[in-house]
Amino acid sequence: GVDPSGRPISANAAAFDPFHETFQEDPAGSLRWSRDGEPVFYSPRLGYWVVTRYEDVKAVFRDNITFSPSIALEKVTPVCDEATAVLERYGYAMRRTLVNEDEPVHMRRRRALMEPFTPAQLAHHEPLVRRLVREHVDRIIDTGKADLVEEMLYDVPLTVALHFLGVPEDDMAMLRKYSVAHVVNTWGRPTQEEQVAVAESVGRFWRFAGEVLDRMRQDPSGPGWMPYAIRLQPQMPDVITDSYLHSIMMAGIVAAHETTANAAANAIRLLLENRPVWEEICADQRLIPNAVEECLRHSGSVKAWRRIATTDTKIGDVEIPKGAKLLIVTSSANHDERRFDGPDEVDVRRENAGDHLTFGYGAHQCMGKNLARMELQIILQELTTRLPHMELVPGQRFSYLPNISFRGPEHLWVQWDPARNPERTNP
Ligand code: HEM
Repeated sequence: GVDPSGRPISANAAAFDPFHETFQEDPAGSLRWSRDGEPVFYSPRLGYWVVTRYEDVKAVFRDNITFSPSIALEKVTPVCDEATAVLERYGYAMRRTLVNEDEPVHMRRRRALMEPFTPAQLAHHEPLVRRLVREHVDRIIDTGKADLVEEMLYDVPLTVALHFLGVPEDDMAMLRKYSVAHVVNTWGRPTQEEQVAVAESVGRFWRFAGEVLDRMRQDPSGPGWMPYAIRLQPQMPDVITDSYLHSIMMAGIVAAHETTANAAANAIRLLLENRPVWEEICADQRLIPNAVEECLRHSGSVKAWRRIATTDTKIGDVEIPKGAKLLIVTSSANHDERRFDGPDEVDVRRENAGDHLTFGYGAHQCMGKNLARMELQIILQELTTRLPHMELVPGQRFSYLPNISFRGPEHLWVQWDPARNPERTNP
């Protein structure tokens, strides 16, 4: 076959399948061939151009005019008529938020909504994060064995996210189900039967977001990012639109917790698989902030993101036609040896660990990055203090929700001997 510019498609490019297990488990490793020899290629299975080297991925992020983020929340798998009908029945209308908004509206909206993300504002959330993590560790500390995702890593970021947004913390189990449906609906490859069930959950999620928003509008005086936006709306109605508020109410819940929960699970797995590194940070917790960056680099929770070319252009030496959809593989960029020495090694003292692209880059770079960092640091501080001798339950196989963007194990089993917990001998 040939690509849309008429060039022959290589065997590797033809075989690339972002839903395959190898990409879910090791996205960077599975694209080494591309970084080495064909750093920009057309994937006929996906209908996207795939970009895998650090400098190219960064260049795409840097120019959000040529490479628009408008497709960031587009369904990667077209849905069947039946699922479309379900979504219509719920009035599903996910449109522009921040992450998929073009300029100049995007930057006006981003600036207007930035204040709750400033370090001074984020500091208010730290005691809550600390308390939540401690309570969750209390619950498991004497059991000797736990699935950390189930017992802690999902709940903590979800509670923090709802608190940050100002959304009531009931219905957490339901929100978890909805969030999974949203990921599958937008970034996954559901079968026709799955599509209908997924659409049902996505529709309910959309309706739920609308109801929460309506209640908030009646009294928007409370704390949180959503009431803050509602209060701003009268001053800038063309920037903070009704459609924006409804869309971000749903997308924000997912953006703020799935990514962080997955990042925490990836980090703990990576550190425990590299035992000497885990022991190093147990012995010196000052290493934790950079360890968090190294874990986000090596084993991030966002593995790829999307852009669309608004004009004929070039990435590296490769010509890209107007309208080309791009999968920019941040996880591959983060393992590019042109940027990171020994990129597959875990080095918590790595000087440029923080140059990873897991939070994106440029105008749309993740607004929640410092909240996520705080959560990850506190989780590692508490676990290295209270369960320093925990280890992965051997022989477990990790499973992932097949999708093109998010990555984290669905379960993470660890074990330890409660008799050896430091607080038994040194309460
Ligand atoms: C945007 C990753 C946590 C809110 C993004 C983007 C990525 C990302 C890749 C798109 C960047 C781009 O297009 O250049 C992550 C990861 C997280 C995380 C890996 C956790 C480890 C959070 C949290 C929040 C949040 C906790 C909110 C409390 C946002 C928002 C945007 C965004 C509002 C849109 C920014 C814009 O388009 O201007 N994030 N995120 N994220 N994220 Fe996060």
